[in-house]
Amino acid sequence: MIKINENYLKLQASYLFSDIAKRVAAFQQAHPDKNVIRLGIGDVTRALPKACIEAFHTAVDDMAQDKTFRGYGPEQGYAFLREKIAEHDFKARGAKISPDEIFISDGAKCDTGNIQEIFANDIRVAIPDPVYPVYLDTNIMAGRTDIVYLESTAQNSFIPDLPKTPADLIYLCFPNNPTGATITKAGLKTWVEYARSNKSLILFDAAYEAFIRDDSLPHSIFEIEGARDVAIEFRSYSKTAGFTGTRCAYTVVPKDCMAYDNSGAAHLLHSLWNRRHTTKFNGVSYPVQRAAEAIYSQEGKKQTKALIDGYLANAALIRKEMTGLGFDCVGGDNSPYIWVNAKRDSWEFFDLLLNNAGVVCTPGAGFGKCGQGFIRISAFNSFENAEQAMKRIRDALA
Ligand SMILES: Cc1ncc(COP(=O)(O)O)c(C=O)c1O
Repeated sequence: MIKINENYLKLQASYLFSDIAKRVAAFQQAHPDKNVIRLGIGDVTRALPKACIEAFHTAVDDMAQDKTFRGYGPEQGYAFLREKIAEHDFKARGAKISPDEIFISDGAKCDTGNIQEIFANDIRVAIPDPVYPVYLDTNIMAGRTDIVYLESTAQNSFIPDLPKTPADLIYLCFPNNPTGATITKAGLKTWVEYARSNKSLILFDAAYEAFIRDDSLPHSIFEIEGARDVAIEFRSYSKTAGFTGTRCAYTVVPKDCMAYDNSGAAHLLHSLWNRRHTTKFNGVSYPVQRAAEAIYSQEGKKQTKALIDGYLANAALIRKEMTGLGFDCVGGDNSPYIWVNAKRDSWEFFDLLLNNAGVVCTPGAGFGKCGQGFIRISAFNSFENAEQAMKRIRDALA
């Protein structure tokens, strides 16, 4: 008899985005002439930068000629991309990462979800609340039950405190989804020191680092001294360059990073992840890696910055308007997300904005217990739509 992995039965049903879709569909049916402005789901709306498209086209043409055609590439990614990443994303910021410590993949969702496979099941895992749900769900799927929640609330300025009971594996995400909060170098150093003294490991999700405009904030955990021993970092081109539908990301596993077996012997996490990656993954397509490489060209850098500046202009407007309406907000300055204290139940405020303003946001309660009473507004839309949405919200709340 075929049996299931019963851990799947322990997962909370993921109703958030289907519930939102149902409510939006019902509203649209009742008001067919009203256009809904979507500031809910965190998906980008603008086209790929021109430099990426040109490189993409050229690489597709390479595939059309026997002489330039590429079959299977290295599972870890082509050297041309890994070298650019090491140079521009790390060396340029004073972080020492070598190209062979970088693993190219088809998404930070897969990487943040898959990484837990290389750790034991009886570890204590610290997970932020509210949180990007992948971290929690993939640990539940694996059968891990020792989970401590790192509460991010107004009391701690949405930067979780160190866990009271020592945690083995710690997930951190900055700039944060959903709160938009950022962490300072000093704040991140506290976590690195904690991990070093507890022999724990930090999984640092930097999917939104490209939105950082405050020069004092760290883009990478590897800007912090000592992090190479205790941290793995995830990056994604999804929000950096509009790659949500193109798919390209990477994970950095420094060769100094160790974890321990039952006898206490240390093992290189790089070797384990390399083994996992090469066994279960066959690389990102050649044209996509060429398109990603183009982000690091002079034109590509200019164009991706302009793309993100556009979203940040929306974010600044949304934050200013919501603050002006009397709501406490975080995020939106170095992040595409604005986390708004709704001063009432998350879903109640969601319904109010949908029904009275025709604007879709995301109820904070869907991201964890501490998200109750908040909504997340995303800046991924055109400036005109962001302006229109804010005007409608102003009128609805007047
Ligand atoms: C915090 C965080 N990490 C990772 C991802 C996934 O990125 P990707 O599109 O590379 O899978 C997202 C996407 O929304 C995210 O918010």
